[in-house]
Amino acid sequence: MKLIIDEELCTACKQCMQVCIRDNIVVEDFAIETGSNCFECGHCMAICKSGAITLKSYEGKEDRIVDYNPRELPLEYDDLLQFLKQRRSMRWFKNKKIDKETFEKLFEGAYYSPSAQNEQDVEFVVLDEKLDEFMELVYDIIKVQEDEFFRIKEFGEYLRDNSTKDFHPLLWEGKQLILTFSTDKTSAVIANTRLELLAYSLGLGGFYSLFILKADEIDHDRLMEFFQDIDKDKHMYSTFIIGYPKKRFRRTIPHKDIKVNYY
Ligand SMILES: Cc1cc2nc3c(=O)[nH]c(=O)nc-3n(C[C@H](O)[C@H](O)[C@H](O)COP(=O)(O)O)c2cc1C
Repeated sequence: MKLIIDEELCTACKQCMQVCIRDNIVVEDFAIETGSNCFECGHCMAICKSGAITLKSYEGKEDRIVDYNPRELPLEYDDLLQFLKQRRSMRWFKNKKIDKETFEKLFEGAYYSPSAQNEQDVEFVVLDEKLDEFMELVYDIIKVQEDEFFRIKEFGEYLRDNSTKDFHPLLWEGKQLILTFSTDKTSAVIANTRLELLAYSLGLGGFYSLFILKADEIDHDRLMEFFQDIDKDKHMYSTFIIGYPKKRFRRTIPHKDIKVNYY
C-alpha cells in the first residue's frame, strides 16, 4: 500500500478515484486504496480538496507540498513565449564558476519533471574539477569518428597542444558541464530542458554538446566506468555546458518554419 488516507478528512468526493489511472482507489464512505498498482504519481494527493491523502514514501517531505490556486497561472502565455524567444545558446563565459547552491536551484526544475512510468530515475552529474579528465576520456572514445567530424579532429589537436585555436573546440569557454542520465531518453531530455530554462531565468547560459553525447552512443560501457555510482542501465542522454554568459544577444533571429502535420 502506497497511500495514507485520513478517513476523517475525506469527504468522499471521488475526485481521487477519477484521476487515478491505475484504478487503485474506490470511494465508499471514504477513499480506500484497493490494490498494489499505485505508481506514486500523486494525482490523488494533489487533487484532494481536504488534504486527506499522503503518499507514504513522501512522508516527512511536507516542505515539498505547496498549495496553490488551480485557477491561477503564475505567468502569462506572452511572457513565457517572450522568454523562449530570448533563449540563445551561449558559448562564451565569464571566469566565475556556478556554485552548488545555484546548481541546486536549477535541479528544482528537474525535480518537478514528468518521467516515463513515473520512474523518476533521471540523474545528473555536474563536472567541474574532473572536467579535463572526463574530456580526455570522451576524446578517447569519440576519436574513431575523427575523419567524419572536423570538430573531433580539432579536439584531438587541442588536447595534443598543436591546435591553432585558442578555445576548446567542444567546450568553447565552458568550465562546467551538466550531464543527464536516465533509462529513458525523453525523460532525461525533458528534465534537462527544464533546468536549462531555469538557468536562463537566473542569468546563466549554456549550450548542448552533440559531440560529448557521442561518447555514450559509441562506447557506453567504457563511458560508464567513469561514473561508478550510476546504474549502467542509464544512458547519458544530454550534455549541457553552462556558465555565466559573457555576451548578450539583442534580438531574435528568424528560424525555419516549423513543420506541423495535422492528420
Ligand atoms: C542536441 C543539440 C546538440 C548541440 N550540439 C552542439 C555542439 O556540439 N556544439 C555547439 O557549439 N552547439 C551545439 N548545439 C547548439 C546549436 O548549434 C544551436 O542551438 C544553434 O547554433 C542555434 O543557436 P540557438 O540555440 O542560439 O538558437 C546543440 C544543440 C542541440 C539541441
